[in-house]
Amino acid sequence: MATSRSVGSMTVDRHVGPPSHVSTLMATALPYPTELMHDIRLPGGAEVHIRPARAADEPELLALFHRLSARSRYQRFFSFIQRLPRRWLQQFANVDYRERLALVAECPSGATLELVAAARYEPAGMPHRQEIAVVVDDRWQAKGLGTILLDDLLRAGEARGVTKFRAFMLVDNARMLALIARLGTVIARSTEQGMVEVLFTRARRASV
Ligand SMILES: CC(C)(COP(=O)(O)OP(=O)(O)OC[C@H]1O[C@@H](n2cnc3c(N)ncnc32)[C@H](O)[C@@H]1OP(=O)(O)O)[C@@H](O)C(=O)NCCC(=O)NCCS
Repeated sequence: MATSRSVGSMTVDRHVGPPSHVSTLMATALPYPTELMHDIRLPGGAEVHIRPARAADEPELLALFHRLSARSRYQRFFSFIQRLPRRWLQQFANVDYRERLALVAECPSGATLELVAAARYEPAGMPHRQEIAVVVDDRWQAKGLGTILLDDLLRAGEARGVTKFRAFMLVDNARMLALIARLGTVIARSTEQGMVEVLFTRARRASV
């Protein structure tokens, strides 16, 4: 189980400048996948636009990080980090829409647009297997948004040849575990040092 990898990666990253994958992905990136853009109406009536992330999202992704409660931050990053390392931010926003994909949910906030959720996958060290992560702004949690965003991400992954997904979460993260149980078919699950690792496929029955 790769707990130490996930938790270990929480160390403060002093790297400045683009990470290596950003400079190489320009050559391999698929065109911006407009087919993944759509508008949704949440059960409570709020309208949200879902679309793939792009490099220009870095400031809004950072703003989303700063709006997260300490609890959500800990659940997402497994550490009470105060600052999002620049390299992670660049990785979140700069994706090739193939091996790395990120979807964001945005909605109007005053005169501007605000990102209220993000879901992403990235290579998990084996072909056709990607690691996923999701976060929803606390004000938008428990409205069905995480479910829709993860469903979109899994569908997009499958369409790009991903056969298995991996996720790490805290053992007491019942909502994330329920989300995976709702959308996925669990192949393997292990628990170590307060963390759960789940390997799953997208459930055929999944429909949101
Ligand atoms: C975990 C997380 C991503 C879930 O996102 P969310 O938007 O809050 O989740 P949803 O609203 O889609 O689902 C929440 C509830 O709505 C219910 N729900 C959503 N869609 C539903 C549907 N179509 N039918 C029935 N119930 C549904 C779920 O059963 C769930 O119930 P619960 O509150 O008892 O768990 C979010 O809470 C979060 O960002 N947490 C902090 C970060 C984190 O933990 N990330 C995971 C580690 S990577």
